[in-house]
Formats: sequence, C-alpha cells, structure tokens
Amino acid sequence: MQQAYCAEIRALNAQREPVPTAYVDTYGCQQNEADSELLRGMLTEMGYEIVDTDQGADVIVINTCAIREHAEQRVLGNVGALVHGKRRKPSQIICLCGCMAREQHVADRLRQSYRHVDLVFGPQVLWRFPELLRRVILRRGRVFETQDVPGAIAEGLPVRRSGKVKAWVSIMYGCNNFCTYCIVPYVRGRERSREPEAILAEIRQLVEQGYRDITLLGQNVNSYGKDLGEDIDFPDLLERAAAIPGEFLLRFMTSHPKDATEKLFDVMARCEKVAPVIHLPFQSGNTRVLTAMNRRYTREQYLEKVHALRARIPDVVLTSDVIVGFPGETTAEFEDTLSLIEEVRFDALFTFIYSPRKGTPAAQLPDPMSKEEKSANFDRLVEAQNRISLEKHRAYIGTVQHCLVDGVSEDPRNNLNARTPGGRLVHLSGDASLVGQFVDVEIVDCSTWALFGEKR
Ligand code: 5AD
Ligand code: SF4
Repeated sequence: MQQAYCAEIRALNAQREPVPTAYVDTYGCQQNEADSELLRGMLTEMGYEIVDTDQGADVIVINTCAIREHAEQRVLGNVGALVHGKRRKPSQIICLCGCMAREQHVADRLRQSYRHVDLVFGPQVLWRFPELLRRVILRRGRVFETQDVPGAIAEGLPVRRSGKVKAWVSIMYGCNNFCTYCIVPYVRGRERSREPEAILAEIRQLVEQGYRDITLLGQNVNSYGKDLGEDIDFPDLLERAAAIPGEFLLRFMTSHPKDATEKLFDVMARCEKVAPVIHLPFQSGNTRVLTAMNRRYTREQYLEKVHALRARIPDVVLTSDVIVGFPGETTAEFEDTLSLIEEVRFDALFTFIYSPRKGTPAAQLPDPMSKEEKSANFDRLVEAQNRISLEKHRAYIGTVQHCLVDGVSEDPRNNLNARTPGGRLVHLSGDASLVGQFVDVEIVDCSTWALFGEKR
C-alpha cells in the first residue's frame, strides 16, 4: 500500500526540474537514528534527493526526542527558525515526527503557533509516512496524525543507511516498563517484537553487504519475544544472529537490569561475535529511589548482576545511565549512587539531571531539592566518573586491541577512528582504505574519552 503512495509521489517528482530535495534532521537516541534511515529510504523511493542542509530543501523532516525538557526546547527553537526558509520558499513541506509529536501539549502548540509545520506524526505511524506526505501534497492542507494507535510493524520498508561499516537493526519497538520519570512508554506505545526470521534475514544481508558492526536496538532488548507466539527470548535471538557466517561483531542496547539474565551473560561469553560490552542503566544506587522510579530491582540485585556478568567475562566493558535529582532524592541517597559507581567502576557513564515530563507519575512528586544542590551532586558524579574512566583507559596502554576501523576523523595526526571490541573509541593514523577492516592496534596514550594507538 505504502509502495503505491511512493510510486505516485515519485511520478509527480519525476516531472519536476531540478530533482526535488529532502532533508532529515535527527534528535535523540539511536532508535531515532534508525528511524531516520527509514525516512530517508522512503524519501528516496518517492524520488527525492537526500541533502544535508535544510536550506532550500523541498521537504524537511525533523525527527524529535522528548526524553528531557532541554531536547524539546532545542527542537522547538530550531523548528521555529524554519519559518524564514519557508517564507523564501512557500512550497516547502515541513514535517515533525518522533516522540514529541505524541505529546498533547506539543501537538497543540504546533497546531496553534507553528503554522509553517505541515505534517505532524508519531512514531507508531512512521511507516505510513508516504501516505501522509501524499495527503499534504495533494490537499495542500495540514495533517496531524498524533493520536494514540496501537503500533504495527511494517516489514520491507526501504532503508537508506548512513554508514558502510556500522548498522542498526531494530528488533523491537515500544516499552512496557513505565519507569516513573520516563515519557517513552507514553509516546512509543507498547512493546512489539519483530519476527526473528525478518531480523536474521536483515543481519545476513548486512553482513553480505560488508557491514562489520551491527547493533540490535530496542528500548529494552531483554524483553524481546515476550509478545510473540513463539518460544524465543533475546539470548536465543542473539545466539542465532551470532551463528550467521562472516566477520562481524554484534552489539545491543538497551538492557533493563531486571531482565538481564545469566542466560544472556552465558551467550555473550560463549559467542565470539557478540562484543564484550553491555549498556546496563542503573539510574540510582539507592534502593528507595529505585523503588520510587519503579525500576523493580534493588541496589544489591544490580550489583549481583554485574558480579555474575564479570564472573563470565572479566574484561567486559560496562556502561550505564544515571539520573541525579529524582524528586525526593536526598544528598545522602545520592551518596549511594556515588558509592555504586566506585564499586562497579563503569567504563563510561551517561549522566542526566532529572527533567520532569508532563503526564509521568514522577512529575507529580514533591521535589524540594534546589537546582544548585542537584547541580553540585551532578558535578561530583561527573568528576568521579571522569577519574574512573581515565584510570580504566590508562590500563589499556601497552596492550594490543583487535579494533574495527570505522571512520575517518578531522584530526590530521590521527586520521582514523576505530573501536575496541568493547566499543571504546581509538584514534590512530593510517591509510583510509583500512576503514571497514579489523586491525591490531597498540594503545600508546589515552584521555578520559578516548584511546590513542598505533597500527601493528
Ligand atoms: N529526566 C532525566 N533523565 C531521563 N532519562 C529518561 N527520562 C529522563 C528524565 N525524565 C534518562 C535515563 C534513560 C536515558 C535514556 O535517559 O537515564 O536511561
Ligand atoms: Fe523509559 Fe524505563 Fe522504558 Fe527505559 S525501560 S524507555 S527508562 S520506561
């Protein structure tokens, strides 16, 4: 059905001179990056040339993120500024999709105050983009497709991937966990898993096309398969993916600790193609706060998981997310977060100050701590983690790492970027033809954020 809409728009575009252009801008997580690759694929099918600036583009798509207030403000500011370009080119079509499109207050505001935006649609109807765009083109009216609908999974959509070495594969959509601070379950809907055969076929094809670093994506990959009629869980899927012939590495994100099982750790340890890395967000080191967040594990249970993982893969790279300043969190409770990171010693940490999201339970809680105190706690956390990250990086010096060269960099002294099997960034110099190859790299120096190496 969508293919017919694509063909119709393609026929219209074929008559246009010069070839009409489209620009897709992405905010937020890797799921959004993957969705944008789908949008670009659909736009290419519809006869648009993909460009990398909004200036003068015939179609602009802004794929948005609602996870924190700051991200939303940036999007609204940038969408507001598009009004000038549209004045110069009134035929331009401006679309806004992604998580913000599903927030009622945002949809209302776009409707009333951002009249230059023509099309607004939520993540559950992403696959209907050609149909919705056609409606805008033929009717020249505004289209809002933002209501709550059960998400479907459309297979066989065209994808236009940004890289040649790394690729993302969505294995499931949505989230059922309802952590009390989080907007995702409201805007992305319930969990839907893709059929394993469709996922495995996509991975096989990527490997044949030369992709070497494949990341399986989902809001919580560990609940993969629970909604399918089949007897398959995430570790089963991972093991089947790792059995695909070829030289490549598999990564996955994100894992909810409550569902990260010993079976998963066993598969990671057993399968050489599964990279020795896991992103395991802990959010807080204090059990009372974890309960208020509805995370459904205690501090001790989290530490036990880390222990079980390291018992199987001692040098596993461990990264995590943490929120500082959850409503009601005291500085004494925050100290438990600090002590947890000292105990676990993560390789890297994504640190966030709590941001109230309209419609979530936590936004209703009393939040007495001042901004200044939250910032001071946040700074202490970042400082501690930077020290730990640097110490962990120093331990790489003198070792040889089997790295995948995955891109070129701006720095003339270190013109290549590579990743260790655990995903740590390595800068090195060498011929650009090495991109896409695995090479042995001796680590000679480091910073808090990266390693520096020489090709052996
Ligand atoms: N405020 C701050 N951080 C948040 N995250 C999710 N919701 C919020 C919020 N309301 C963080 C969590 C999550 C990561 C993707 O973003 O740490 O793991
Ligand atoms: Fe949000 Fe929790 Fe779902 Fe992650 S698991 S997307 S933090 S509700």
